[in-house]
Amino acid sequence: MKNQVTRILVIHGPNLQLLGDREPEMYGRATLEQINEKLRKEADRLGVELRIVQSNHEGEIVDVIGEASRTADAILINPAAYTHTSVAIRDALAAVSIPAVEVHLSNIYCREDFRRHSLIAPVVAGQVSGFGLESYLLGLRAVIGLVRGG
Ligand code: DQA
Repeated sequence: MKNQVTRILVIHGPNLQLLGDREPEMYGRATLEQINEKLRKEADRLGVELRIVQSNHEGEIVDVIGEASRTADAILINPAAYTHTSVAIRDALAAVSIPAVEVHLSNIYCREDFRRHSLIAPVVAGQVSGFGLESYLLGLRAVIGLVRGG
C-alpha cells in the first residue's frame, strides 16, 4: 500500500478555465494550462501522480469528489465561486475519507464581504489563499505532506 505512488486529485472550479484573460489584475496572467504545467512539474519532482479536473458544474464536482477515495490519496481543490455557496461540495469533501486542501489565487479575506466566508474551510485540512499561482504549489506540497505524514 505504502509502496504505491501518491495520487493527488486536483479540482479547479467554475470560470478557472478563463484564467489568463479573466481579471488578470486579480488572478494573474497565467492560464489554467500554465498552472497545470507547473503543478505537473512539481508533482514529477516530488514523485506524485496528478489527475486534474476543471468543471463549471457543481454536481460534476460533487461526483468527482465522491469517487475520489477509490482513485486518489488526497484532494487539492480551488472551488472558485462554489467556495462561498456550495453546501453540496462541502458535504462531499466531508464525506470522503481522504484529506483535502483548499487553494485560492486571490486573498479571499481582503475582497468583497461575500467572498470572506468559505463553506469549504471547516471540512478541509487547511487553506492557502492569496499567493497567485504559488497558492497551488504551496497547496500541493501541503497535501502531499498530509498523505506522507510529513
Ligand atoms: C477564487 C476566489 C473566488 O472568490 C472566486 O469566485 C474565484 C477564484 C480564487 O482562486 O481566488 O473564481 O477561488
